[in-house]
Amino acid sequence: MSIAKNSWSAFDDDTAKIYLDGYGHPSERSKLLMGSILKELFGDTRFHLADFGCGNGHLCQFFRDQGLTLKYTGWDFSTSLLNAARARYAGSDDTVFVEGDIQDPDLQGEPADIVLFSHVLETLESPGASLAAARNMAPRIMIRFFEPPADRHDTAVLRMLDVGPGQKQEPYLRRSFSTDHYDLLLHHIGCKSVDIHQVQSDKDQVHVVQL
Ligand SMILES: C[S@@+](CC[C@H](N)C(=O)[O-])C[C@H]1O[C@@H](n2cnc3c(N)ncnc32)[C@H](O)[C@@H]1O
Repeated sequence: MSIAKNSWSAFDDDTAKIYLDGYGHPSERSKLLMGSILKELFGDTRFHLADFGCGNGHLCQFFRDQGLTLKYTGWDFSTSLLNAARARYAGSDDTVFVEGDIQDPDLQGEPADIVLFSHVLETLESPGASLAAARNMAPRIMIRFFEPPADRHDTAVLRMLDVGPGQKQEPYLRRSFSTDHYDLLLHHIGCKSVDIHQVQSDKDQVHVVQL
């Protein structure tokens, strides 16, 4: 088992349920921004979203609460976060959770209309392999960055993740992309264009990559 899978699977049951609802909960504004972009792209039409690195699956309910009609497939390699996701949201044909490594370029999944990386690309050891897997699944990719690519050198550092009570922590990877590296990754997957969205005063960005 990889170190990364070990870390992301180390949540205890209670923490897995609240992770991303509570202290791990990221910017509400960029979540709303993703919802409005999806509305612009798909309107009232039913579409299939593959959520790469879905964690405890909170985005499937969030998007439905915003009035979107979607089939949702959540992909993650964290057994503990997926257990929380299934306990909370699974049970209909429209909501599926799959355990898998999204960096596997041979990842096999049902074709989707869009693949989402929400606060995930910066945590991957091999973001290029994962973007290639996404490209094989859908004609569009949406990426929410908490550390958007910028004119700088690439960095990758180990940070600590709270996974349980008593300040139980595990290491995880956190990248900052240079625009040069990001452009190269997009070039390799045959990107035709990328639309960049940002809420004013927010660091988060949402990119829509057309393939
Ligand atoms: C920061 S959380 C983001 C969760 C969610 N997408 C959100 O926006 O709130 C990163 C997620 O990516 C998952 N992840 C990281 N590397 C992965 C990999 N190689 N394969 C599958 N999932 C991965 C982690 O298990 C974790 O659930």
